[in-house]
Amino acid sequence: MKLLKISYFFIALTSTHCYSQQETWDLKKYPLGTKITNINEAKSLVEKIEKRKKQAWIEPNKNELPKGKEGELIRYGIELVTNTSQLIGPKAKKKELRISANNLDCVHCHQVGLSGLPGTKKYSIPWINSKNEFPQLDIKSMTVKSIETIIRGMLGTTPQKMSNNTKEMKAIVAYINWLGKKTQLNMNMENTKLDNRFNLPKRASNPIKGKALYNTLCSSCHGIEGLGLKKADFEQGGGYQFPPVAGDDTYSDGGHMYMIPLLTSFLYTNMPMGATHDNPILKIDDAYDISSYINNNLKRKHDSNRMVLYPFKELRPEGFAIPEHFKNSNQEFEKAKFGPFQSKFWW
Ligand code: HEC
Ligand code: HEC
Repeated sequence: MKLLKISYFFIALTSTHCYSQQETWDLKKYPLGTKITNINEAKSLVEKIEKRKKQAWIEPNKNELPKGKEGELIRYGIELVTNTSQLIGPKAKKKELRISANNLDCVHCHQVGLSGLPGTKKYSIPWINSKNEFPQLDIKSMTVKSIETIIRGMLGTTPQKMSNNTKEMKAIVAYINWLGKKTQLNMNMENTKLDNRFNLPKRASNPIKGKALYNTLCSSCHGIEGLGLKKADFEQGGGYQFPPVAGDDTYSDGGHMYMIPLLTSFLYTNMPMGATHDNPILKIDDAYDISSYINNNLKRKHDSNRMVLYPFKELRPEGFAIPEHFKNSNQEFEKAKFGPFQSKFWW
């Protein structure tokens, strides 16, 4: 069967963040938390979102941040996504605000763009259009999710620790919605998600070559074992100078970044520091081999729940390489681990 070409993990189910005013299809059928159990229904939802029109990129402008209470909340949101570990990490000064399960900052992945604002870099999973992506069907869990649920997932935390009503959640969501304030509802957007305009090499990735490249190009900041560089006051909540790409304090072996195609794309537009989609530093081939080394050879946190992820095989990205899904074929497992990857269906 021909794989659906989708550009993302999620399928937005509505154009507006107001759940009741939805134009495309009957949302009453899909309250938050709904599990989609029918493959055809899931596919049709994936297709619908893929087919939405694309609007042009909109560059946000810092100078347009509102004044007053609304502006204060948005500014607090900016602080939170920039200094996440310091403010709400496991070692945050205010104990009652120890919400996040790791010491990463959102901006480590959702990087600063030309606007100078976090989460605005093209093809670096920017948040400019996130307002129009939620609620969405997360194909990883086949569940209809709100933006708040996604944010809790990013922090590895629970509704008990960060309900939708906390000031912290409201601030992050207010910032993301402000970024999207000039967007047109119910549309996709150019330059968002990660870059999938190129083809991956038509060969298996080579982690041995990747290791040599990693040690030369990346280890000075991220460390030989990928554990990053802690700031001197790390134990007092200072966070990382350079974030870890392995170990217990970054994505697990069930995470999105654990997929080589996705990580390749992320590295291509973002690393080493200074790379952008217009001026990448790595060659695709090298990003591919480095990703293979990072994900196949460096030790990271284990996600004991990962076997239930991507319940529909047909909607599972090729690079989601967990042995639990390949019990009958070692060859298939090796292919998921190293490639080559056929489709553009990466995440
Ligand atoms: C280790 C890298 C990493 C960190 C740190 C991270 N994210 Fe993400 N985020 C991703 C990736 C990869 C995706 C795309 C896949 C997915 O949605 O899981 C994503 C997706 C998202 C989305 C959906 C965007 C859209 O338009 O569909 C939101 C919102 C988001 N992250 C918010 C956050 C917030 C807020 C934080 C900090 C609390 C954070 N992320 C931290 C990697 C990261
Ligand atoms: C000069 C230091 C430096 C170099 C060299 C560098 N990085 Fe990074 N890297 C960073 C910083 C700083 C961030 C956080 C980005 C931000 O805050 O804007 C980051 C973020 C990342 C992330 C996302 C966050 C995480 O921890 O998962 C990955 C993955 C990554 N780098 C991989 C690499 C790889 C692979 C290379 C080599 C090709 C590399 N980096 C080279 C400094 C560096």
